[in-house]
Amino acid sequence: MCVSAPRIGILVGTRGRGSNMRALAQACASGRLAAEVGLVVGPRADAPALEVARAMGLPVRVHDFTAEDAGPRLAEALSERRCRLLCLAGFLRLLPTEVLDAFPGRVLNIHPALLPKFGGKGMYGRHVHEAVLAAGETESGCSIHRVTPVYDEGEVVLQRRCPVLPGDTPDTLAGRVLALEHQAYAEAVAKVLRELDGD
Ligand code: GAR
Repeated sequence: MCVSAPRIGILVGTRGRGSNMRALAQACASGRLAAEVGLVVGPRADAPALEVARAMGLPVRVHDFTAEDAGPRLAEALSERRCRLLCLAGFLRLLPTEVLDAFPGRVLNIHPALLPKFGGKGMYGRHVHEAVLAAGETESGCSIHRVTPVYDEGEVVLQRRCPVLPGDTPDTLAGRVLALEHQAYAEAVAKVLRELDGD
């Protein structure tokens, strides 16, 4: 009997580079992550991350998040593509509650700091690293957490740590954290998929 790999959906933002989306897709393609990308969703056709997804030959959907029925339609699209898990990668809005209801505990997000520190509305990308440096932290890292209706508040599934070095700028720290993100997201997805399989 041929058992197909579980599918994941990936939701990207308008401005992100798509590097976490690419890292997840590469982990699937290499077999490091026993899953396949069922759908990459983004809010605009010209979002850089969607361009990357198209170039990788991944199935792509442009979704209008301003539409009244944006939530149910997204949940439907992910279900049609048989996605078991949804991974946010640079998607910075709050997710419509219908999607959270359709995928209970099965929506993950990656954040470039050690939650619960340096999370919440407005804490994204460079702002996070600036805040970490301003606070004089000696350590940072990334967190993968389950998504709830509140920004960055859901259960942390996995964290990876790195030092903050003397002389770090937001860019050097962001680079160190991003390298961790690219490894950690696939590990977190594997962990949640194993849980879903009852391991
Ligand atoms: C990543 O660093 C991710 O952690 C961050 O956006 C970047 C997206 O980069 N997300 C947040 O800050 C969420 N609060 P990418 O498009 O290259 O994956």
